[in-house]
Amino acid sequence: PTVEKKEVRVWCDGCYDMVHFGHANSLRQAKALGDKVIVGIHTDEEITKHKGPPVFTEEERVKMVKGIKWVDEVVLGAPYVTTLEVLDEYNCDFCVHGDDITMTAEGVDTYHLVKSANRYKEVRRTAGVSTTDLVGRMLLLTRNHFHQGSAEYAIEKEDLITKVQKMKLSSGSSNMGQDSAAKSPWTGCSQFLPTTQKIIQFSDGKAPKPNDKIVYVAGAFDLFHVGHLDFLEKAKELGDYLIVGLHTDPVVNSYKGSNYPIMNLHERVLSVLACKYVNEVVIGAPYCVTEDLLDHFKIDVVCHGQTPIALENGKIDPYAVPKTRGIFTLIDSQNSMTTELIVERIISHRLEY
Ligand code: CTP
Ligand code: C5P
Repeated sequence: PTVEKKEVRVWCDGCYDMVHFGHANSLRQAKALGDKVIVGIHTDEEITKHKGPPVFTEEERVKMVKGIKWVDEVVLGAPYVTTLEVLDEYNCDFCVHGDDITMTAEGVDTYHLVKSANRYKEVRRTAGVSTTDLVGRMLLLTRNHFHQGSAEYAIEKEDLITKVQKMKLSSGSSNMGQDSAAKSPWTGCSQFLPTTQKIIQFSDGKAPKPNDKIVYVAGAFDLFHVGHLDFLEKAKELGDYLIVGLHTDPVVNSYKGSNYPIMNLHERVLSVLACKYVNEVVIGAPYCVTEDLLDHFKIDVVCHGQTPIALENGKIDPYAVPKTRGIFTLIDSQNSMTTELIVERIISHRLEY
């Protein structure tokens, strides 16, 4: 008789504040070590106790993690020190974490219990991306633009940068601008080095089926956030196969101005590919949705959210062609999050703590 193999359940836990593709990559590796990935997320209260309040609320953090395609279940309220009881409660065989040491406020290794019980496995942390690094880029974005401001404002920003530098020193991982050759032309910061291998690992590699209804959306998708997630969920509901077109860095900069985008095209590709609603990404999509693009991908529906649509060169509607074809729809994500709002939130948060 064939014995049915037991499903291997993997536990991952963390703050998942400002979720980025580094988090997604650790969950991808965790998934490869078993069958199901269960993610335990700390509450706002628990995080505040150990390292100060998070930037994103627990509802937002839960939603972002649920949107990652390798995640099967999400549990809010995971203890800061992973216990054997919590693994057993959720029927998990072992716990997976990146190869960095995390401590409680008292300096205790948060994985000491699961380590000594041999129910701990490590995956490699993704180099070149972290919350600290992204915050650094946001601060540089404001620093480079303070020259029109008052002297007082300038001092405030300098103070902020000192704070971030201190933060990096204390976390022992000051890799910004040092260990990476790739520098953004917009923020001057070092960035993650993308490879085709990583893109292959993140993509599902499935072509649309012959009768699939194909939906197309395009945008910057900079600092991939809950607003994007809600938008893509609604877009996916309009068909069977969702293609996301990502504008190049110079195109994004031409309509967002300042030092945007904060994440370069390749980083944005990985962030969007990690989303469970997305089937395919066009790396460097044309700003105007053309006849060629619609025919090439056999697109049935094109949509955009409630955010303003910038005209190309101040006059051409990028959606003119799909509008003429009668396949353009506006959708309402019912979420008011924007990349700019995240930058504001981070800056005021860092000023306070
Ligand atoms: N992680 C990773 N690569 C990164 C960042 C995080 O593999 N570049 C992993 C961590 O090792 C952990 C999981 O993501 O296993 C979630 O942990 P969390 O506490 O949210 O991450 P942080 O280490 O705080 O990440 P960051 O500093 O970027 O916020
Ligand atoms: O601004 P960006 O180009 O990243 O937006 C990509 C798409 O997501 C756009 O269609 C935009 O309208 C949509 N969006 C949304 N709700 C948000 C943020 C963005 O519907 N809160």
